Amino acid sequence: FPIHSFQKKLIDWFLREGRDLPWRRDKDPYKIWVSEVMLQQTRVDTVIPYFHNFIEQFPSIDALASADEQKLLKAWEGLGYYSRVKNLHAAVKEVKERYGGVVPKDKEAFSQLKGVGPYTTGAVLSIAYGLPIPAVDGNVMRVLSRIFYIQEDIAKGRTKKLFEEIAQYIISHEDPSSFNQGLMELGALVCKPSNPSCLLCPVNDFCEAFKRGEQHLLPVKSKG
Ligand code: ADE
Repeated sequence: FPIHSFQKKLIDWFLREGRDLPWRRDKDPYKIWVSEVMLQQTRVDTVIPYFHNFIEQFPSIDALASADEQKLLKAWEGLGYYSRVKNLHAAVKEVKERYGGVVPKDKEAFSQLKGVGPYTTGAVLSIAYGLPIPAVDGNVMRVLSRIFYIQEDIAKGRTKKLFEEIAQYIISHEDPSSFNQGLMELGALVCKPSNPSCLLCPVNDFCEAFKRGEQHLLPVKSKG
């Protein structure tokens, strides 16, 4: 697999065509973290106004750490999955107490915080700090399943680990942030669940599913 040409095609496309989203305007790890937590179960269009409001009310780790829980829940009202914001609050308090209010760059340290899994770790540390850690969610699994023609059931726990290994192997060390966001953006704009726009895809030369005309058959998912 021509890793280098793939990285270049993906990154150049992302820098050219990636959406101008509010959390892409600076690299503050706190803001990136808030956006990734919101985006976990909620779509981009819904998140945007909540993100602006939340950052206005709680602009920093310190502001969030000392905020009142009722105010937080109020700012989260409508997004659902309230454990997300409760975990974020606990995690941010720990960052303040244990790391002097600086989001830790260390993969193990960051991933041990409340509510932080492998996806959030990869997303925050790659986008904010430029570390080469993959960020694999459902969208990224769909993209990779098609490129590498992987027929494993994505509903199985082990399959996510397989995709994380593949993503770790192909991630750009020059620009991990654009690489990870490029995969997310490709999944959102081009490599969609149904009727993917393969003819417009910047990496269709590398896509085994497209080569076989079987992109609509992937990913394989047992339970819905
Ligand atoms: N979904 C998850 N993370 C995202 C991001 N950083 N930008 C757009 N969509 C996303």
